[in-house]
Amino acid sequence: MRFAQAIDEESYVIATYYLETPMDLEKAAEALAAEQSTGTWVRVGFESDDLIARYSAKVLEVEKLGKEGELNKGRLRIAFPHGNFGVCLPMLLTTVAGNLFEMGEFRNIKLLDLEFPDSYLSEFRGPKFGISGCKELLGVKGRPLIGTIVKPCVGLPPKKFAEACYLAAKGGVDFIKDDELIANPEYSPIEERVSVTMEAIDKANEEKGEKTLYAVNVTDEVDKILDNADIALENGANCLMLNFITAGFSALRVLCEDPSINVPVHCHRDMFAAFTRSEVHGISTVVVSKLARLAGGDQVHVGAILGKLYEDIDSVLESAAVLKQKMGKLRRALPVSSGGQHPGKIPANVHYLGEDALILAGGGIYGHPLGAEAGARAMRQALEATLQGIALEEYAQEHEELKAAIDKWGIARF
Ligand code: 6PG
Repeated sequence: MRFAQAIDEESYVIATYYLETPMDLEKAAEALAAEQSTGTWVRVGFESDDLIARYSAKVLEVEKLGKEGELNKGRLRIAFPHGNFGVCLPMLLTTVAGNLFEMGEFRNIKLLDLEFPDSYLSEFRGPKFGISGCKELLGVKGRPLIGTIVKPCVGLPPKKFAEACYLAAKGGVDFIKDDELIANPEYSPIEERVSVTMEAIDKANEEKGEKTLYAVNVTDEVDKILDNADIALENGANCLMLNFITAGFSALRVLCEDPSINVPVHCHRDMFAAFTRSEVHGISTVVVSKLARLAGGDQVHVGAILGKLYEDIDSVLESAAVLKQKMGKLRRALPVSSGGQHPGKIPANVHYLGEDALILAGGGIYGHPLGAEAGARAMRQALEATLQGIALEEYAQEHEELKAAIDKWGIARF
């Protein structure tokens, strides 16, 4: 029986899909459950009733959402026995998001959500730092973190890169990261970049009396990621970063769970939109966020509030919410709002994301008319004003860096 009234929820991972198909929706759900567990297009002799009962995916719900032309639209909930794939992210994905995208009669199908039982979640280490750990490292309370992405994102030799970091740190950012486009190129090897950058950041920290995290991008071929991380840590890195969609969820988990990694891991999602952007096909951003947290990511990109990226505010907030909602005993991960941000967007970011967020501006700091240090100051001034309930225009009268930013980029209304 692939249709089930009740299951032992602790033994299953439940997936929710949106489906468009000319097939009858119940038959389609059954075909999906079969194809992704014990069955195939025809019942085979060894597929006994007992084997189906134990190992088959079970259809929990088929919700009909109407018809367009020959296509039936529906939402399906399918339960997959996790004993089939174990505590293994690649096999979890093969099961809930594998061949089903290729089914000829499934014209569009999108994996909308995954629900995990607590016993399954307890097998994962999850974020080592999460929101509270990152804030504790920085000694920050009661406000979001402000950060930057060094721009230009590629091409700066290590000393120039370190100089760029010094300015932003001195101006008051809590966090600096490599862009996703730089990791370990010949012109800026991790060893050299990290050692001069951490020196520059230490100097800025002493001068400003605050701390700064620098996330070093260790993305590489899978067998080299931990080596890169070791080199970064040996040279004083206090945060690491991985492009986890291109490197893989498993690579992220291996990095985060390794006992030698004693700093937060920042998770960049580049390439995710190839499979999230369609509303009817692919995998949702909610699933991407959940898996990043499950893999141990401490800080996870969720798009940008009123930024330059495609997602609307609801979608950004949905991804942020799953990083913070209860998920077994996993620590809450820090949502990162990045892409097209500048001081005039701080009020909107704080309004929507609250104090548990990391707001990043690259161009919005390095493109500031008075330079990067002033750019960072302008971001902090915008945050101070917002937290005190003062309009940016008013605060800008006494804060020239904020004024210059607003004159250049304006204030985002929301
Ligand atoms: C990142 C960014 C990146 C983005 C720009 C942001 O954190 O690396 O999200 O993916 O496209 O680099 O830079 P701006 O702040 O200049 O838009």
